[in-house]
Amino acid sequence: MTSHEVSRHALVFGASGLVGRHLVLTLAEAGADVTVAVRTAASGARVERWLTEHGLSRSIRTTIVDFDAPEIIAGGPAALSSVTEIHNCAGSYRFGMNAQEARTANVGIVEKVMDFAEGLPHLQRVVHVSGYRVGGQDPATVPWSDDHRTALYKELGAYEASKVESDAIFQARAFERGIPWTIVNPSSVIGDSVTGESDQHIGLATTIEQMWNGTAAALPGDETTFLPVVTVDYLAAFMSAAAIDPDAAGKAYWILDDATPPLADLLTHVGRHLGAGVPRVRMPVGVIKAAPAVDHQGRSGDAHLHVGRSLSDRLRRRAGLQTRHPDARCAGVSRTVGRPPGRAPIRRRHD
Ligand SMILES: NC(=O)c1ccc[n+]([C@@H]2O[C@H](COP(=O)([O-])OP(=O)(O)OC[C@H]3O[C@@H](n4cnc5c(N)ncnc54)[C@H](OP(=O)(O)O)[C@@H]3O)[C@@H](O)[C@H]2O)c1
Repeated sequence: MTSHEVSRHALVFGASGLVGRHLVLTLAEAGADVTVAVRTAASGARVERWLTEHGLSRSIRTTIVDFDAPEIIAGGPAALSSVTEIHNCAGSYRFGMNAQEARTANVGIVEKVMDFAEGLPHLQRVVHVSGYRVGGQDPATVPWSDDHRTALYKELGAYEASKVESDAIFQARAFERGIPWTIVNPSSVIGDSVTGESDQHIGLATTIEQMWNGTAAALPGDETTFLPVVTVDYLAAFMSAAAIDPDAAGKAYWILDDATPPLADLLTHVGRHLGAGVPRVRMPVGVIKAAPAVDHQGRSGDAHLHVGRSLSDRLRRRAGLQTRHPDARCAGVSRTVGRPPGRAPIRRRHD
């Protein structure tokens, strides 16, 4: 362990979420002191229980965050002055929110985390989880006009637009205040690469649940629709490494399993793996725009996505990270569902 690692103190917002929990475990196992910032004591207790169940023997600290308070953490940055890195995994990952709800959650959190970060004397990095379809925004466009914002929220829907806006604002505040930053843009995050554990039933998992329940009338996308996935533990390991990699300062990384098959192929294999009926009807990708799917045939922004992916590969090699992507067709995605409501846990046929 280097002296840098000994003095590492990570503050994790959104620590009770899917990404946050795995990240806290990874950071603590890497030897970092970890403080989790959660909105309620009950949330903190859930994180601690989960960490114990997952074999963590060292203790972590918990602090309560109130994003609506003038000082989001009691005592302000002075109360956590030894923090060397912040990870922002907090956000509302939900579809169906209205614009104000989504903005308050996703944009508001970023603004307040960056305000807090500015006051930390030993801060070396803020790592922010943006997203595969929303990353790569131009901070020079901030502040947005009301017209631009209204149009974008209408076009993209509240969740995605709030993530786009927060990506731009995160970078703008970082530049303005000289805060060292790194952004990770994960694709659809699935469960743990070994156990498949995930409690998230949104996006891809929703379609898989519908297949399992026999309520899926059609499969979204076709052979040209690419909806890459990434396991949550791989993402956590990447974030932990990026936070202390000097070369990762001021960079955005796209994190995905390149070998994810086309969406239709993926869902067909998962359906068969589950022993569920696989609908023959395909739904055009336009109809499923609200879900985080990407058409391989050309989106604007693919150039920086390509650069971000090759940067990710370089960081992965520097940090010695294993590519622990399971075969998404028969492993990761079906195991993401884990246990559809009221059903027995899924058996892993490939083992
Ligand atoms: N999961 C994916 O597939 C995926 C893909 C791309 C990007 N992302 C992004 O990654 C980040 C983390 O995602 P996740 O999957 O870990 O989400 P998650 O499981 O829903 O966890 C998010 C955490 O943020 C906090 N939170 C939720 N709503 C909040 C609100 N309105 N105000 C303040 N805090 C709130 C909660 O922590 P406390 O209640 O303990 O405070 C919650 O545990 C999000 O920004 C998401 O957009 C996720």
